[in-house]
Amino acid sequence: MKKLLMTMLFGTALVLGACGGGGDNGGDGGDSSGSDGGETSESAAAEELFQSNCASCHGQDLSGGMGPDLTSVGADHSADEIADIIKNGKGDMPPQDQVADEDAQTIASWLAEKK
Ligand code: HEC
Repeated sequence: MKKLLMTMLFGTALVLGACGGGGDNGGDGGDSSGSDGGETSESAAAEELFQSNCASCHGQDLSGGMGPDLTSVGADHSADEIADIIKNGKGDMPPQDQVADEDAQTIASWLAEKK
């Protein structure tokens, strides 16, 4: 019975890992904390998510393309509003359904800092 449970847990972990889509921090193990100037691994993860989901329309450096420039989007929109735009779309921007709620939140709080 115990073995069955382990198998199930392991299976779940594999499935989660397989569709994690960059949400995990695997690999960067133990960087010494306390010496970074605010660029957390959270923002690195957010940037990665942005590159894979948003950069095609908003530009790799947020400077815009088919979508608008987002370099100062935080001046106009709160993190909540941005998360809402990601999930529901806006005008010509289609809803980004492939982005998990949690990831949308991560991207949104990162973008809300751009002022
Ligand atoms: C298919 C192209 C496309 C993709 C992919 C896309 N966007 Fe957009 N986005 C647009 C367009 C076009 C607009 C302008 C919508 C409008 O106002 O009509 C927009 C608008 C926005 C706005 C509002 C900007 C403002 O000043 O009002 C935000 C915030 C935004 N996008 C964030 C994102 C994020 C974050 C992602 C990735 C999760 C993303 N977008 C992916 C095309 C895209």
